[in-house]
Amino acid sequence: MTTFFAILFTVATLTLVIGLGLKIAQYARTPAPLKIPTTPAPLTKPGVAFRLAREAVVFESLFKANKPLWIFAALFHFGLAVVLVRHVRYFQTEVGPLVALVQPLALPAGLAMLIGLLLLLGRRLVLERIRYITGRSDILMLVLLLGIAVTGMFMTKHVHTDVVAVKAFFTGLLGFEIRSLPGDPLLVVHLLLVAILMIVFPFSKLLHAPGLFFSPTRNQTDTPREHRHLCDWAAKLEDKRS
Ligand code: HEM
Ligand code: HEM
Repeated sequence: MTTFFAILFTVATLTLVIGLGLKIAQYARTPAPLKIPTTPAPLTKPGVAFRLAREAVVFESLFKANKPLWIFAALFHFGLAVVLVRHVRYFQTEVGPLVALVQPLALPAGLAMLIGLLLLLGRRLVLERIRYITGRSDILMLVLLLGIAVTGMFMTKHVHTDVVAVKAFFTGLLGFEIRSLPGDPLLVVHLLLVAILMIVFPFSKLLHAPGLFFSPTRNQTDTPREHRHLCDWAAKLEDKRS
């Protein structure tokens, strides 16, 4: 079992890191031939950075567009963010101040994630207009995350696992050393689902996280009058002609 998980997490980490790296490189190379910032848009690069930060941290345009969906998404993503920061303790021998600060938030963060996911799933199943555009992968993603959240919450609240041993296993793995992992069924299911999430991440809609930063409607300055916009390939063509 320990060897199986050591191999699984090595494969999952490599898939996540290489897959995400390749996707980000592909996004960075994809030309944006048109100047299409959604206006009102910032005029300067620092302004664009601030706009992107607002999108990533508080989902600004979703807030303007759809308040109920914003609440559902915020519950899930903010909960997830706190949960992930709490989890850093499994990979560090000495935990940092931020990780220590969020340790008491297991229950509120886990619940926010869980309730957010249930509401997002309910929206996809109940609203006819949304069900029509919902594919199997949309549902599967939410069910996968729900599975991770439910098994995690059960471990935190009811059926505890040996978290010291879990930490020893993962810090060991980071140094290419295999230390034994507890065989508790909930932990096994939690980790199997997490490994699946890591493996599918670079091939799934979860790419919306890095994708946001490459969205031309969000990452362009509103300067078409000051500078003529030319994408790389068009600029090269123009150079050749002149
Ligand atoms: C920079 C980071 C991220 C940003 C800005 C972001 C933003 C968003 C927004 C605005 C939505 C709602 C959009 C809609 O349904 O129209 C959404 C949906 C979703 N996000 Fe994220 N997200 C981020 C990271 C993540 C991560 C790391 C995960 C999972 C590990 C995740 C999982 C999901 C899922 C599953 C949905 C879909 C809900 C549904 O369609 O029913 N997101 N995200
Ligand atoms: C290798 C990565 C991971 C390991 C080793 C791990 C391990 C654990 C353990 C041992 C617990 C129980 C904590 C306790 O008893 O106090 C837990 C809880 C939890 N896990 Fe994970 N987990 C991992 C990744 C994830 C991911 C990626 C998510 C979310 C997508 C997640 C979501 C949760 C939640 C919601 C809880 C309950 C709330 C909390 O304790 O923070 N886990 N996890």
